[in-house]
Amino acid sequence: MSYAQYEKEHRKLLKKIPSKRIYAYMLSNLKASLASIGFSEEFINFFTSNFSKLEFKEFYKKFEEEIKNVYSIGFFQKIVPDYFSKEVIPHIPKSNKILDIGCGTGILIHRLAHKKKFKKLVGIDIHEYPEWRHFKSSKAQFKIVKETAFRAFLKKTQPDNLLLTWTLHHMNYNEQARYLSNTYSLMKTGSRMIILEDSYAENLSPRSGKNTYASFMKLSTSERKVVMSTYDWIANRILARRKNVPIPFGYRTLEEWENLCKAIGYKIVKKVFIGFPANRDINTPQSLLIAEK
Ligand SMILES: C[S@@+](CC[C@H](N)C(=O)[O-])C[C@H]1O[C@@H](n2cnc3c(N)ncnc32)[C@H](O)[C@@H]1O
Repeated sequence: MSYAQYEKEHRKLLKKIPSKRIYAYMLSNLKASLASIGFSEEFINFFTSNFSKLEFKEFYKKFEEEIKNVYSIGFFQKIVPDYFSKEVIPHIPKSNKILDIGCGTGILIHRLAHKKKFKKLVGIDIHEYPEWRHFKSSKAQFKIVKETAFRAFLKKTQPDNLLLTWTLHHMNYNEQARYLSNTYSLMKTGSRMIILEDSYAENLSPRSGKNTYASFMKLSTSERKVVMSTYDWIANRILARRKNVPIPFGYRTLEEWENLCKAIGYKIVKKVFIGFPANRDINTPQSLLIAEK
């Protein structure tokens, strides 16, 4: 993706920010979250003071090394897998085969590979990641599977349990419903789908970040969506520089995810409004849902 394309997407997003109040809200949260994962004061000041007129070429020239160390290594290789160990892994049942849909780099599979309770691990995504070469083993495999091939792949793979961590909001609303329905129709009875999403609950208190939640809920529904979308764009495009990841901002509240899953036929085994945990790149609400066939 060229700098001109980044700038075009950036301008489009900036136009959606409805007011100075929301802009200030976003930047103040962003300062706190970027500091929480180890970005320097120089980086944070530069990024937040120049956000509305960011010159990508200059920005990357100045901070290439810091982004690599703090984000690609520190955040994605240490903080994120630790977060999975705390919030996701304890909920995955003992399995002969796990399928991770939208596995990204495969870092969750890499962490699961050390556990005896999982025998085979399969990660799929709509495009390949260079990390797959390092994470693949006799226990862990990775494959590109697009939507057109998904049903046939699932039929053949027959996983015991499935993971969807931060994947669903990268699909549009209809696509999410199709994936959840296709999976339901082909998964074994008793199999579980563990969903981690950028999502907030309207009817539950957050386990972490009560003050952040209170200020977030003062925003209107559409303002919350703009804030979450802008953060997602910052994380995926600006910091992770993932040009192939679709970002349609397909957010739903935890209650909406629950209703969608129930309408398809899933039984909800657990729902957790994690809230706004510490040490996150972007201050987006987090929820976990476990759905069973
Ligand atoms: C934010 S990343 C999350 C990666 C990983 N699950 C994690 O938790 O670190 C979202 C991933 O979902 C993938 N994705 C989007 N639509 C998909 C689809 N239809 N099938 C499989 N993967 C998809 C994207 O390519 C991207 O790698």
